[in-house]
Formats: sequence, C-alpha cells, structure tokens
Amino acid sequence: MLRSIRLLALLLTVLVALFGFIKLDHPPVVEDAGFPDGADTSFAEAAKNYQGFCGGCHGEKMNAFVDRNWKHGNSRNDLYKAIKSGYHDEGMPAFDSAFTDQQIYALSDYILTGIKNVSRYTGSDRPKTNTFKTENLTIRLDTVVKGLNIPWGMAFLPGGEMLVNDKGGKIYHVKKDGSMMPVTGGPSVVAAGQGGLLDVITDPGYTTNKIVYFSYSKAKQEDGRGLATTAIMRAKFENGKLTEQQDIFVAEPWSTTRHHYGSRMQFGKDGYLYFSVGERGNERQNPQEIKGNDLGKVHRIKPDGTIPADNPFVKTAGAEPSIYSYGHRNPQGMTIHPQSGQIWTNEHGPRGGDEINIVRPAKNYGWPEITYGINYNGKPMGPDTKTAREGMEQPLHEWTPSIGPSGLAFVTGNKYKGWTGNLISGSLRFQYLNRSVIQGNKVVKEEILFKNIGRVRDVRMGPDGFIYMSVENPGIIYRLTPVNGG
Ligand code: HEC
Repeated sequence: MLRSIRLLALLLTVLVALFGFIKLDHPPVVEDAGFPDGADTSFAEAAKNYQGFCGGCHGEKMNAFVDRNWKHGNSRNDLYKAIKSGYHDEGMPAFDSAFTDQQIYALSDYILTGIKNVSRYTGSDRPKTNTFKTENLTIRLDTVVKGLNIPWGMAFLPGGEMLVNDKGGKIYHVKKDGSMMPVTGGPSVVAAGQGGLLDVITDPGYTTNKIVYFSYSKAKQEDGRGLATTAIMRAKFENGKLTEQQDIFVAEPWSTTRHHYGSRMQFGKDGYLYFSVGERGNERQNPQEIKGNDLGKVHRIKPDGTIPADNPFVKTAGAEPSIYSYGHRNPQGMTIHPQSGQIWTNEHGPRGGDEINIVRPAKNYGWPEITYGINYNGKPMGPDTKTAREGMEQPLHEWTPSIGPSGLAFVTGNKYKGWTGNLISGSLRFQYLNRSVIQGNKVVKEEILFKNIGRVRDVRMGPDGFIYMSVENPGIIYRLTPVNGG
C-alpha cells in the first residue's frame, strides 16, 4: 500500500516535472511575436516596444533579422549600440531619447532570443492557397515570374513580354512563357540600404523607338567618401541588350545616406516624364529647398532630359528647373489617373503619416513642416511640426500606422467587377495589397487583399487588362486572375 502510494507520488512528480519542462520549452506566445508571455515583464515590454518602434522597418516578426548578415555585429552590446546611437547614413534612427539603457538591453535580448526561432519567421506565414475570396471577387494569383529577389519595377513590352528590375542590379527580359534572360548594358548601381536598380518604364513610342528608362542609385567617390544619388538612365533595348545609354537626370546634391531614393517614373498625358526623388534621409535640408536641390521632389522633364518651358520654377532664380512639386518625403508609387491625367503618388511617412497625393505644379506637400506621422523615436518630428499649414497641401489620404506603400495603379477596364476606378497600393510593411475606393478624390473605403503574401513592391495594370503585382524575397510576379466570373 505504502509502496504504491510512493509510486503514485513518484509518477506525479515525474508528470509535474515533465509538464513543467514541456511548458518551459513551449511557452505560450504573444500574438504575432512568439515570445514567452508574462515570464519576464521587461520581455513583454520589449515585445511591445519592438512592435511600436521597430516593426515598421524590420518586419512585424523581425523578418529582417533572421538569417542576417550582421553589419555591425550581433553581440548584445552591438545591438545596444545600434539601437542607442543609430546608423544615420544607413537609415537606422537613434533611440537614445526614446528608451532607457535597460529598455535597450531588453530590446536587444528580445531580438537575439527571437531570431533563434528561425522557422517561425521564414515565410511560414505565406498563405497556403493561391485563391482568395475578396469582397467582390475571387482572385487566383498566377505566378508569372519567379526566381527573383526584389522585383522593384516591371515594364510591359509588346507580345506579353516584360522587363523586370531586380533591386540588386540585374535586369531581366521575361518572355511570354515566363522564362528570363539577363539583359546586358544596364546601369551600375550601388545596391545598399534602400538603393539599387529601381524603377523601369518604356517610352510612349517604344514599339518603334525601343527606348526604356531605368531609375537607380548611382555611386561616386568624393574626398574619400562614398556618395550616392537617384539617377535616370535612358537606353535602347534591342536583341536583349541595352545600347545608347545616357543618364538624362542625376539628382543633386549627392548624399552619404543609402535610403529614401524615391524614384518611381510615369509618362504624363503631355508626353513628359514625371518621377519622384526622395529626401535621402535629410528632411531638414532637402524637401523644402528648391534652390540647387532635387531631393524630396517630383520632377518633370522631356524624354531626352531637357526641361519643358512651362515647368513651374523655370523662372525662379536658382531653383532646379525640373522641379514640379516639393515637400515630399519618399514617394515610391506613381500612376496617372486614367480620365483626368493627374499625377497620383503615394509616399512613405515617418512613423505613421504615409500619404496619397495628387501632385500639382509648384505645390508644396509640406514634409517635414506638416505630417500626420511622428519621429521614429516616438517624439514629434520637430518642435513646431503641425498637421496643416497655410500654403501646404493636405494629403488626399493618410495611413497611420504606416503601411509602407510602394507601387500604385488605378484599376481600369472591365476584368475586375466592382474594382474599376479603385486605387491599389502595395504594402511593404504589412505584406498585402491595399484596395482603396475613391469617391470625389477621397478614400471612402479600403480592403486588405492577400494578407501575408510578402512585401508588395510594385503593382501595375498590364496592357492585357490584368493587374500584376510583385513581392519580395522570394521575388515573384503574380497576375491577378478573377475566377468563376468573379
Ligand atoms: C526607419 C526604419 C528603422 C526603424 C524604425 C528601426 N530600424 Fe533598425 N535599422 C534600419 C536600417 C535601415 C538599418 C541598417 C541595416 C540595414 O540596411 O538593414 C538598421 C539597423 C539595425 C541594427 C543593426 C543591424 C546590423 O546588421 O548590424 C539593429 C540591431 C537594429 N537596426 C535594431 C532596431 C531596433 C531594435 C529598432 C526599434 C527600436 C529599430 N532598429 C528601428 C532601419 C530601422
């Protein structure tokens, strides 16, 4: 009797120990983060801080830290230093005014513990299906191209072909069957931070003149410093090769930073080339200065790079004559309204305050004097920052929290019942496609499409009337095919 009681007690002890062990090994998880909950309050606080302050850039699930080639080391102290002081030129803000040292160490530990759990973060969240029910339509995502890394821009060629820019620097000629041929003669790019090979579009007269345009990050050395800027190269594309290359625009001033290049391009109905240049991470110097400063602007040039005589600042002494509008932060989406011909853009805000704008000549879009966002460290952008000011344009729409918009298109044609006239924007941060219903130049309704599909970098209407969307890492271009008659 005594023996069996002892045995039972032993069994119970073993069970409790085992249960405790299992519990320890598989702790309950904080939603979307995957970390022990409640075990350590500083850990829970770090998880909250990570999501509030870091997730917008490094991924909600710290995707950017998984399998990382650490630039500045991955010891606890290396992380502490990065978070405390930032790396301004790389686009990493300093958080010394946002956190105590203890909170910074807790964040470092949170990241170092989190990235060990690799399997949870590497793409396992991508949807298992390729068919999605949306409010109005059922859409199948058909893979058009795969095997890319970051398909930053895509341009449609006649005969169902495409040119695709992979941010690292490779240009691909994609045939109708999805096969890819590398294209020679492209620009040499500085592929670092947010820079590299960026947008690509064809000339309106492409079928006869074979002219294409690439935006990219151009490098130079000066006084031992590595400088970079946004540039546009024009070239002829024939027989899989680029020839007659010419830089038709090189933004001034150059910068040691490696972020906020902007660089989406579109041809307006007037036949001129419109494109965006980001403020290169120096909001105090660039976006409000039109004299000798191309950064934080939308520009308008002729296809050969010369300046249209009716550009808004051609008669302003010292102003860059290519400037069309200013006060922009980092516009990475641009499209032409199919009826009005207006230039529509979306741009990244800081923390919050991403915007959709209709870009008009000579107008000031206000960055950083007005914004609906705040600084990455949680403080206002400046002591006197407001959301509105006389003489500065209000955005047509703003996203807080930031979705990280890239790519922009109006849905045209009749293939997508219920979507015609809607505006679609990629979301890098939340990895979906945003469908915005526009009424009277207002966003009256939004739908999230293809949640967790990957960072959506570009979206366009193809000449075949289908929507094409590119996602990053692995880089895939999808065609959105409506199924079952919608
Ligand atoms: C505005 C975007 C942005 C925000 C917000 C941001 N970071 Fe960064 N961070 C970067 C960039 C850009 C880099 C440079 C490395 C790179 O190219 O990825 C970087 C680098 C780092 C590094 C060094 C990585 C290395 O390779 O050595 C650490 C650590 C880091 N960030 C942690 C954080 C933490 C923790 C937070 C939140 C408190 C945070 N970051 C918020 C953009 C951001």
